[in-house]
Amino acid sequence: MQVSWQTLQEQVSQCISCPLCAHRTHTVFGEGNPHASLLFVGEGPGADEDRMGRPFVGRAGQLLDKMIQAMGLQREDVYIANVVKCRPPGNRTPLPEETRACLPYLRGQFALIRPKVIVCLGATAARAIISEDIRITRDRGNWVNKKGIWIMPTYHPAALLRDPTKKRETWQDLQEVMKKLEETDVQNAASE
Ligand code: URA
Repeated sequence: MQVSWQTLQEQVSQCISCPLCAHRTHTVFGEGNPHASLLFVGEGPGADEDRMGRPFVGRAGQLLDKMIQAMGLQREDVYIANVVKCRPPGNRTPLPEETRACLPYLRGQFALIRPKVIVCLGATAARAIISEDIRITRDRGNWVNKKGIWIMPTYHPAALLRDPTKKRETWQDLQEVMKKLEETDVQNAASE
C-alpha cells in the first residue's frame, strides 16, 4: 500500500528498525522536487548531514551540486535521497541488515516520486537498488531498466574527491542520463 509523504516522513523520523538510530542526531529523509524526473541516491548521511538533517550538504554534496549544475539543472529540480536514513558510525558502509531495514523507506520514495531515471551514486546504492552483485568499476555507465525506471550506476562524489581521474567517466554517465531524460520527454510529448 502506498503511504503519503507525511506518513513516510513521520515513519523515518521515528524509526528504530536498526541500531543506527542509537547514534543519530537527525534522520536524513531526503529532499528536492517531489515530482522529479531524476532521483539521485547516495549511501547514507555523513557527519554534516547528520547534524543538519539534510542529504549531501558536506564536501561530497558540494561536488554533487556542481555535477547537477553541469547537467543544466538545479538541486531543487531533482530529488536527493540515501539508502540509509541514519548516519553509520565513522561513515562506515551500512551493513546488509541496516540496508534491509531502511530499504522500504527508499521504495516508498520511489513510489511517491515515480522518477524516470535514478542515478545510483556508488556501490552501496547500486547494490541496494540494482543487484547485490554490482561492481561499480565494472558496471558503471551501463543502464538497467527496472519496472520502467531507467537506472544508471556511477561513482559516488566522495570517490571523485579521493580520485579526480574518475570525474571523466562520471561525466560521461551523467551525459547519458541527460540524453535519457530528453528521450523520455520526447516520448511523453508524443503520447500526449
Ligand atoms: N554521502 C552520502 O552517500 N550521502 C549523503 O547524504 C552525504 C554523503
